[in-house]
Amino acid sequence: MIGARQLRSFLIGWRVSAALFSERLIFPEVPSISDWRMAGHRGALIVLEGADRAGKSTQARRLVEALRNQGYQAEGMRFPERTTEIGRLVGSYLEKKSNIEDHTVHLLFSANRWEHVPLIKEKLKSGITLVVDRYAFSGVAFTSSKENFSLHWCKQPDVGLPKPDLVVFLNITPEEASKRGDYGTERYETSDFQKKVQKRYAELMDDKSLNWKVVDAAQSMEDVHNAIKQLSEAIITEARHQPVGKLWAED
Ligand SMILES: Nc1ncnc2c1ncn2[C@@H]1O[C@H](COP(=O)(O)OP(=O)(O)OP(=O)(O)O)[C@@H](O)[C@H]1O
Ligand SMILES: [Mg+2]
Repeated sequence: MIGARQLRSFLIGWRVSAALFSERLIFPEVPSISDWRMAGHRGALIVLEGADRAGKSTQARRLVEALRNQGYQAEGMRFPERTTEIGRLVGSYLEKKSNIEDHTVHLLFSANRWEHVPLIKEKLKSGITLVVDRYAFSGVAFTSSKENFSLHWCKQPDVGLPKPDLVVFLNITPEEASKRGDYGTERYETSDFQKKVQKRYAELMDDKSLNWKVVDAAQSMEDVHNAIKQLSEAIITEARHQPVGKLWAED
């Protein structure tokens, strides 16, 4: 039989140990219980790419909503992310309010992605699936469509970024895309430039180390959405137990 005093000291001792353990004072190197639960359950990094007006932003929003409705943790992200200091420089360049030398602005676009890497890693680690509206592929496809820029040079600043588990390419001809409204007034929004961009995307898609999936973006919004949702659910399950890779890295 355990006496009341013994029970009391046992409970106090247990509570102190539990508190110390949860604060990681005793075994700081031992993962917490929530780490154990999350272990191997990272979120997936899903990127939507494609030429202007392909439907990336529309589909990114719908995908996040649909995944949440299915009970997944999902959040949207977009690049360029114009709210940071670097993002504001890029935004002003795109809106033609400032001119920045071509190499320099390419590096700023890349820096805008790198400054979000800690956040991307943290979200994925905590089990959140990220749906990203444009990523390094846009950066490379656009700059390498300018005179005297090689695909190789353009890729270098983004080597080592978190590697997407899935890159959905929303495929549409510039003619079809222009039916969705005239190109706007931002830099790059001309039909000739968009054709060059499409060619560069095609070259990037030759890279079989990446999980590219092409979806016909000329279909109805609903059909495009269903296709992307199916691909995304499959990759969330697959990515769960894999480490996050490094984009365009050799090792
Ligand atoms: N499948 C579709 N069929 C018809 N119209 C569409 C479809 N998808 C999107 N749209 C329309 O086309 C326009 C562009 O869509 P959206 O902004 O999603 O494209 P985007 O790829 O994000 O463009 P941008 O590159 O300019 O950011 C919007 O008016 C949207 O409502
Ligand atoms: Mg958009």
